[in-house]
Formats: sequence, C-alpha cells, structure tokens
Amino acid sequence: MHALLCLLCAAVVAASPLEQRDTVTSTVNLGNNTGTPQHLASGFIYGIPDQPNQIPDHFYTGIGFNYARAGGAQVAAPGRGWIWGLSEYKVRFASALSNYKTARKYNANFIFLIHDLWGADGSQNSTAPYPGDNGDWTSWDNYLTQWISDMNANSATAGLSIDIWNEPDLTYFWKASQAQYIQMWGRTYHRLRQAWPSVKLIGPAFAGQPDRSNTWWTNFLSFVASNSSVPDEYVWHMEGGGGDMEGAYGALVGILQTYKLPIKPLNIDEYATFPEQVPAGSAWWISQLERVNAVGLRGNWLSGSQLHDFMGSLVSKTNTNSPTGTGYYPNGDYQVYQYYNLNMTGYRVGTSPSADLKLDTFATVGKDMVRVLTGVRITSGTWQITINSLSSVGLPSSGSLNIHTWGFPSNGHFGEVDAPNDLGWNSHAYSGNSVTFPVYQTDTSTAYAFEFYVG
Ligand SMILES: *[C@@H]1O[C@H](CO)[C@@H](O)[C@H](O)[C@H]1NC(C)=O
Ligand SMILES: *[C@@H]1O[C@H](CO)[C@@H](O)[C@H](O)[C@H]1NC(C)=O
Ligand SMILES: *[C@@H]1O[C@H](CO)[C@@H](O)[C@H](O)[C@H]1NC(C)=O
Ligand SMILES: *[C@@H]1O[C@H](CO)[C@@H](O)[C@H](O)[C@H]1NC(C)=O
Repeated sequence: MHALLCLLCAAVVAASPLEQRDTVTSTVNLGNNTGTPQHLASGFIYGIPDQPNQIPDHFYTGIGFNYARAGGAQVAAPGRGWIWGLSEYKVRFASALSNYKTARKYNANFIFLIHDLWGADGSQNSTAPYPGDNGDWTSWDNYLTQWISDMNANSATAGLSIDIWNEPDLTYFWKASQAQYIQMWGRTYHRLRQAWPSVKLIGPAFAGQPDRSNTWWTNFLSFVASNSSVPDEYVWHMEGGGGDMEGAYGALVGILQTYKLPIKPLNIDEYATFPEQVPAGSAWWISQLERVNAVGLRGNWLSGSQLHDFMGSLVSKTNTNSPTGTGYYPNGDYQVYQYYNLNMTGYRVGTSPSADLKLDTFATVGKDMVRVLTGVRITSGTWQITINSLSSVGLPSSGSLNIHTWGFPSNGHFGEVDAPNDLGWNSHAYSGNSVTFPVYQTDTSTAYAFEFYVG
C-alpha cells in the first residue's frame, strides 16, 4: 500500500505543467539521476543454439546479455512436447536445458516456457489438449511432477523464473476458455511455489498490454488477489506495434489499485515487432523500457531452426539456413546494444519522449562524457533533443558545446555491421543551462548517439 501511494505522488508530479512535452522534442534532464545502468533491455527470447558454444562468448558478453527465455519450441521432430508422450517431451526438455546452461554461463536469468514444453507452441493441432480440459487435471499434474523432478535432477533452479503460460489471450497458444486458464494459473502457482519457494513465478505474459477494458487483465488480477497467487513480476508483451511503456504501466497501476494489489517489478519478456528490430527501433525500445525500469527481452520473429539461433536477430552468419553453421558476425542492432552495454556507464538520467511518441532517448552521465542514445519508432522526419541542467555535469549555463555524433546504420536483420559510423563533431551555442539540437532522420532505421565531455 505504501508503494502505491508513492507512485500516485510521482504520477501527479509527472502531470504538472512543468513537465509538459513538446510534439517533436525528446528531453534529457541531467539533474535527474535515476540510478546505475543495468542495461535492462539486453535479453531475448530463444535465439540460443542448442549446441553449446556455437555462438562465440564475446557476442553474449558484448551486449551484457542478461535474460533468456525458452522451452524447446519448434525443435526438429520428433519433439512435439508432453502432449505427444514422454519421449517427445524429453527432446524439448533437452533443448531448454541446453539453453538454460548457456544463459547461466553468462550469469543471465532464464525464464522457462512450460507451455512450449507441454506442446502448445503454436504448431499444435486444433484438437490438442490443454491443462484441465473437461475438468481433468491428471495430465497437467503428471507433467508438472515430471518437470519438477527433471529440473531438480539437473540442478536447474538458480536464476530461474517461470512464465506460467505464454500469451493465453491468443488462441494460437491457448484455445480453452479464459476461466480454465485462470484455474490453471491458481493450481500451477501454488504447486510450483511449494516445490521451489524462491523461484520467481511470473505472468500473465499476455499479448495485450494492461487495459481496464481488457477482461483477461481484470479477471486475472481480480483472481490472483483472492487466490494469493500474485506474480513475482508483472509480465506482458509489447509486440503489436502500438502503445508505449508509460501508458501501459499507468494502466497497470490503475488496475492494481482497484484490486488492492502490490506494485512488483515489470518484465516485458517480448518487445518490438520484426520491422522495429532495426537500430532506430531498438534505441526507441531501450529508452521506453529504461524509463519505467522494466526488464525487456527482444521478441523473436524467426521460426524453426532459425528460432534457435541469431540471438533474437542481433547476429547473423555466413549460411543462415545451416542450423549448426558458424561464421557469426554482428548486425546493426548488435552495435546499438554493445554501445548501450559497454559505453553507457556511470548513472542514468531521466528523459522524456517527444509528445508524438516518435523520438525517444536514453541517457547516461559517465566520468568522461554524457551519452545520449536516440531512435525514432521506424519513421522519418525532423525532431529535436533538448538537454537541460547542463550545470549539473559541471558545464557553464551558457556558451558553446561540442557534440560528437555516432550513426548506427541498419543493414537488414541478417546483414553485417561491424561498427557505428563516426559522424564527427558539431558546435552548438546555448544559454539558459540548456542546449537544443535537431535530429534529421532521413531514413527510418538509423539510431544515433550524441556525446559531449562533462565539465
Ligand atoms: C492432435 O494432437 C494430439 C496431441 O496433441 C494427438 O493426440 C492427436 O492425434 C492429433 N490429431 C490429429 C488429427 O493429428
Ligand atoms: C487458488 O486457485 C486454485 C485453482 O482454483 C485452487 O486449487 C487453490 O486452492 C486456490 N488457492 C487459494 C489459496 O485460494
Ligand atoms: C565503447 O567502449 C569500448 C570499450 O571501452 C571502446 O573500445 C569503444 O571504442 C567505445 N565505442 C564508442 C562508439 O565510443
Ligand atoms: C526523473 O526521471 C524519471 C524517469 O524518466 C521520471 O519518472 C521522474 O518523474 C523524473 N523526475 C523528475 C523530478 O523530473
């Protein structure tokens, strides 16, 4: 309850006229220290080859890879999951366990997708069973018994979170009723909590963002309040091409208040559409997620063996159709995440997006430089960035500021990009403790970073 009240205060402050936003201006406030960067958006779903060490270590460490999510979906036959029998379950389990071990090698957290291990990865046929069909939970209970035992036998619970079901609000993954889903949540939550008191149970992983008019959200949150099965992190996906993180989070907080539920960490464990997975879109999503302190995992739009490769479209290789082929290289998005991880150190500062929500910024103040990463949501035009409170990094309140620009180009999802482009230095006159400069976005995919020395 305490946290709820504080959050309300913050919302009131944010809505004050001082915070009014300009249509085309993204603003950075150097005086608003928002904590140590943890590159919260450096995760992805699937994207890890089942053969250990296939992608060299430096590709993972370069982006500060910290969150994985898998459950053996779409592995080569025969591996269609529990609903086809124990031997097909074992093939999926082996894939997920291998991915778990790869994640842990880099100290990354791992979200296990038990709907995929069950067999509901979207490739299941129209009469495939779901947990609790006709009120019979036997198969689901036996499945959980088997899985809990296998996870224990492999000591695979460190760094583990469990998404109890993925996107049940899409018939692609859940064809039974909403009521049956909610019963499944309640049964499964208490069973897993008893098995592993400290493993994180997260959800609901809906495809739809929080919204008061969405009965999946309202019925789910109302149920967990009465069932003592509140998720350890609130999870949903941002892959529809609409919405924004402040709006979605605001809606969640509103529904939480209605059901007297606590604030919990956020995990957007699938973000960005495939077209948004270019440097500009990636920088936009990083800015959005960091603002509300949400962990983020890039969505994965590849399928079959490609789903189990390419780090969520961050790397590519010489033969993209060879599941076990190597010869990896980074793409344009990779350069953005590497800069985000290696260069954006020090402390984060608060930013706001342009009011049209098309330009967003993520900024850090390092010992040497201020760094502002910016991206448009895959559109072209002219926007601008205002950086306020220059004196808080030791600069005079007027004068001229030399700003260094890097361009992060796209070369397609599979095309190689080995470094950002150095676009040189520009001098900007400023006064009033604030500098404003334009962002000429002539294509829809290049991200930019602007840097200047602290005083
Ligand atoms: C559909 O899948 C289930 C297993 O999920 C299987 O038992 C059943 O035979 C399949 N039906 C058809 C028509 O393939
Ligand atoms: C939670 O819901 C499940 C499913 O209905 C039920 O089996 C369980 O007893 C409930 N637990 C509590 C504490 O209400
Ligand atoms: C980022 O930091 C790394 C490691 O310090 C350095 O080698 C690289 O040149 C920096 N990149 C940019 C674009 O500043
Ligand atoms: C600081 O930045 C955060 C994140 O953008 C924002 O929520 C908060 O309102 C800002 N605080 C002030 C005083 O501007």
